[in-house]
Amino acid sequence: MEMRPLGTTGLTVSIIGFGCGAVGGLMVRGAPADQERAVARAVELGINYFDTAPAYGDGVSETNLGRVLDRLRPDVVVGTKFHAPPKGFEAAIAASLEASLRRLGREQVDLFQLHNPVAVSGAGSVSPETVIDHVLPALERLRTQGKFRFAGFTAVGETASLHRVLRAGGMATAQVPFNLLNPSAGREVPRGFPGQDYAGTLTAAQAAGMGAIGIRTLAGGALSGSEARHPLGVAEVDPIGSGVDYRADARRAALFRPMADEAGEASTAELAIRFVISHRAVSTAMVGLATVEQLETAAGAAGRGALSPAIMERIRGAQDGMVAA
Ligand SMILES: NC(=O)c1ccc[n+]([C@@H]2O[C@H](COP(=O)([O-])OP(=O)(O)OC[C@H]3O[C@@H](n4cnc5c(N)ncnc54)[C@H](OP(=O)(O)O)[C@@H]3O)[C@@H](O)[C@H]2O)c1
Repeated sequence: MEMRPLGTTGLTVSIIGFGCGAVGGLMVRGAPADQERAVARAVELGINYFDTAPAYGDGVSETNLGRVLDRLRPDVVVGTKFHAPPKGFEAAIAASLEASLRRLGREQVDLFQLHNPVAVSGAGSVSPETVIDHVLPALERLRTQGKFRFAGFTAVGETASLHRVLRAGGMATAQVPFNLLNPSAGREVPRGFPGQDYAGTLTAAQAAGMGAIGIRTLAGGALSGSEARHPLGVAEVDPIGSGVDYRADARRAALFRPMADEAGEASTAELAIRFVISHRAVSTAMVGLATVEQLETAAGAAGRGALSPAIMERIRGAQDGMVAA
């Protein structure tokens, strides 16, 4: 498993990260024995980044990950998240961290990341001013207590607001949506490109020395090539940054089937994983998992490395062609 530096944190992470979210569902609704088997296999494959949040199953993902890590005791990097409330940031963030540590059974997490979208307005979002003027200073003070090592944020929300936070510095990592269906975080896209234009959030995170954690590698499962969801995963997936809905994303995934064939990949999912790790700004590509087989497939694809320039060029053409589609 290829390892890459996580920005300037000094941590080194595997190019595939283990997603403990509800979209995949294994660490929320899976059987305890399957969860343990999957984490053990991930560690064996060289995966060392595990990403969870209180929001995943209302604490259940953290509890399950904590139980499995306590049993296996692997040397891994663990990240969790918090939601900033509209008021009383510092106390609420501190309480969220304490509750996460309790559920995870750890004295410290490596990454503690803002989970809210960043936008000037919108339900559940926080404004860039709030992040810069209130959340960041609160995190800096909390960090001195040694309960987390690095602060990060989720680069989901309004593009201009995300760039303000990226420019402000202070965050060590950013979780950046980036996939075959929406590459705009990693490169310029033509006018009229369907989906949100992130205007280079991935490259901006890299330029700012942040560790970029790719999320939505499989567009929540739409890039699997099938609209059907695994029973452990959530039934309805919101598209983040890609199409208008999951179904439209799943249909567009078929555009990339010829490139999967050309690359010798059995599925668009494998092509999608190799596409994300082909971007050097990505430190780790998160994959949401329902089964240990999906983990094996992801690790296998990552092992075949970056895609050739010729295939990347064809992918670019297919992406640009989505404007008219
Ligand atoms: N900070 C944030 O706000 C945020 C947001 C999103 C994600 N994340 C992080 O990123 C992780 C992954 O993101 P995600 O769960 O949204 O989505 P994702 O990785 O884009 O998609 C996961 C889905 O892809 C399908 N899949 C996985 N492996 C596959 C394989 N080998 N072959 C075919 N299909 C496969 C599964 O769906 P089916 O089996 O049902 O087809 C799975 O539920 C999360 O667990 C979380 O840690 C963070």
